[in-house]
Amino acid sequence: MKREKLKNLIDIKDLSVKEIDDLIKVANDIITHKDKYSKKCEGKILATLFFEPSTRTRLSFESAMLRLGGRVLGFSDANCSSTTKGETLGDTIETVSGYADIIAMRHPKEGAPAVASKRASIPIINAGDGGHNHPTQTLTDLLTISREKGRLDNLTIGLCGDLKFGRTIHSIIGAMSRYKNIKFILISPEELKLPDYTITEVLEKNNIEYIETNDLEKYMSELDILYMTRVQKERFFNEADYLRLKDYYILNKKKLEKAKKDLCIMHPLPRVSEISTDVDDDPRAKYFEQAHNGVYIRMALILKLLEVK
Ligand code: NCD
Repeated sequence: MKREKLKNLIDIKDLSVKEIDDLIKVANDIITHKDKYSKKCEGKILATLFFEPSTRTRLSFESAMLRLGGRVLGFSDANCSSTTKGETLGDTIETVSGYADIIAMRHPKEGAPAVASKRASIPIINAGDGGHNHPTQTLTDLLTISREKGRLDNLTIGLCGDLKFGRTIHSIIGAMSRYKNIKFILISPEELKLPDYTITEVLEKNNIEYIETNDLEKYMSELDILYMTRVQKERFFNEADYLRLKDYYILNKKKLEKAKKDLCIMHPLPRVSEISTDVDDDPRAKYFEQAHNGVYIRMALILKLLEVK
């Protein structure tokens, strides 16, 4: 059966493994032949509608479109939009559909980009919806892993921190569960464990090996990837809980003593205190490369959704 053409990217599962691998190929080509792509989106407009704070995702989307020769418009704060006057998301989206060719949106409500895609007449990209999903961060992560390790299979991946509210975690698990021989070490305090539905619907359904632990160092020597995350302050109901959990893990040089020489240390950023700055000059620290890779994979994604050859 022929798959329908990809119109939106709401969930990482909207992309087949082949499509992800193709996006990575294009991103790598962009990295080596930047000039070839500098006019591909001339005349096209990207709208970035950010109802939640962002540095990397919004700016890398904008940089991606500008580097493709296109233009950008949008808002980075819902308080500057008509949302404050009571406009519904659907009406905003229908309006912006006439102002741009493609929309990247971030929203605090889980499922908002899926709802928006029903009203939009142009492609919608989910740039993060609440504690749910963040598919373009995952594409960034996969590009980074494939560049650093040369493969996306046969990997032991430690995911550490806020596995409950971390949307980057939910999306990377959805993506990596489709590659061969992946083992997850899920490192979190009891209160921030991976949601049950992800365990049953993604890991167990696909027979993926996983271990849950609250001990960051216990499995350190086995890891190929260590993916650190911040405790998601904005998703907590109670400040006292956040304060109690926020410094639960602090990765430092000492804790890396038993780690593999070719460990790849990742973080979607922003970092708060979960990676000490003494790790930054370790050659295994790849989080800033990861942030830079975000531009190239988003360029590849924009080309795909706009069907630019
Ligand atoms: C992440 C996010 O917004 O979910 N940041 C990002 O997009 N690079 C991670 C986070 O905010 O902790």
